[in-house]
Amino acid sequence: MYTHLEQRDSTRPPVSLGPLDRMKREGEKIASITCYDASFAVLCDAADADVVLVGDSLGMVLQGHDTTVPVTMDDIVYHCRAVARGNHRPFLMADLPFASYPTRDVALKNSVRLMQEGNAAMVKLESGPNQLEIVEFLAKHDIAVCAHLGLKPQSVHKTGGFRVQGKGSDAARRMLESARSLESAGADIVLLECIPSELGAEITKAVEVPVIGIGAGPATDGQILVLYDVLDITSGRKPRFVKNFMEGATSNLDALRRYVRAVKDKSYPAPEHEFHA
Ligand code: KIV
Repeated sequence: MYTHLEQRDSTRPPVSLGPLDRMKREGEKIASITCYDASFAVLCDAADADVVLVGDSLGMVLQGHDTTVPVTMDDIVYHCRAVARGNHRPFLMADLPFASYPTRDVALKNSVRLMQEGNAAMVKLESGPNQLEIVEFLAKHDIAVCAHLGLKPQSVHKTGGFRVQGKGSDAARRMLESARSLESAGADIVLLECIPSELGAEITKAVEVPVIGIGAGPATDGQILVLYDVLDITSGRKPRFVKNFMEGATSNLDALRRYVRAVKDKSYPAPEHEFHA
């Protein structure tokens, strides 16, 4: 009955929140990456990524939209199921897409879909003071939650574009308070996108849960990048924090290994990838 447990590779047990918390405490950087299908999931796993995110960035890199707004629950569930089939060790996180968490009950229903149909271990939602009640409700229902702060791509039409967030002391103080309140509400991970490195460092120190950054400086507990940026598949102007790991690599797997190694040995992000207040 438990034959699937016997088949597990005990030298590479699946990552869960416990090991991620330990990595924060011990200063080992958490290497995270987005992923959208089974074949790349196998490569991300082989490269020893700790966290894999089925991000709504798939709306831009796979579907060709200008923003993540058109991505639906069905899209994320479909890609999450595919990723889950190729994934063994990395902790599997999935995005709640635009307008899929307007109330706590709808957020719960959609989070359950991501976990039961998509096999996700954690859901991520773009957060702020308005999502505190939702995060608390999900946490009370034993759902692992990642609270995404800073640049929130689902809000670009409201906030006016893809810009660095948390600049200036008022904006920085508000984001720090949000991170603390979201942690108190039950968030298990905080993700910071596109903020000054100084603020990334301050928030990482202020909360006990792991903080994963993308364009948030070198001090966060981990880094995440979009798979297609790491492999230099995306065309057009790239954000400052993006690094092409295909340069000098012999294969996609080699590039992914170089990315994981660079996060672990802290050579990525380098000063040229940072924003400052
Ligand atoms: O959707 C996504 O890929 C993300 C990352 C940018 C963190 O949210």
